[in-house]
Amino acid sequence: SVLGVLASGRGTNLQSIMNAIATGQIKAKIGVVITDKPEAKALDRAREANIQAVCIDRTKCTSKEDFEQKLVAALREYGVNLVVLAGFMRLLSPYFVQSFKDRILNIHPSLLPAFGGAHAHRDVLAYGVKVSGCTIHFVDEGMDSGPIILQESVPVLPGDTEDTLAARVLEKEHSLYPRAIALYIDGKLIVNGRQVIIQS
Ligand code: GRF
Repeated sequence: SVLGVLASGRGTNLQSIMNAIATGQIKAKIGVVITDKPEAKALDRAREANIQAVCIDRTKCTSKEDFEQKLVAALREYGVNLVVLAGFMRLLSPYFVQSFKDRILNIHPSLLPAFGGAHAHRDVLAYGVKVSGCTIHFVDEGMDSGPIILQESVPVLPGDTEDTLAARVLEKEHSLYPRAIALYIDGKLIVNGRQVIIQS
């Protein structure tokens, strides 16, 4: 299998995936890492590991359609058959989702369906819930709404800030995403409507 990882920022989830490929936990290779921002640290991480790294600068595209057509073309060019969103901060249109139907995974730093969107930790703290966590899910046409593959919880502690909570969740993300990708690659996931059945 060939993964295409899309990221917008520092790329610590990308790093955990590269590490899991190196140890053999994920039996696949990364065909390309694509960012929408030239300054994304994820590009350096990929290049350091001799992985193709491409920036499709959203600000240089004429429209969202133009941007996504370039994304799809690049993913096809590198032979990608599973798209892995790892801190990719753009909502993908139905055109993109249809282009890789049931072959797009995302990680979100809350226990979905609670606290979707771009400010999960802030929203968690503002609401006052006592438990948060992270979710790996298939991407459908909605925002953070596709079938859930794996989730893991962490406590929200007194005195937490967005940063302390984010760090506690991120540690879980780094083991959960490789596990979910490995399950997908090993053919262990069966999607039945909203339910994802994990075969042992
Ligand atoms: C992670 O918390 C991820 O869940 C969220 O954005 C963050 C990306 O971090 N969608 P990184 O770029 O992988 O370090």
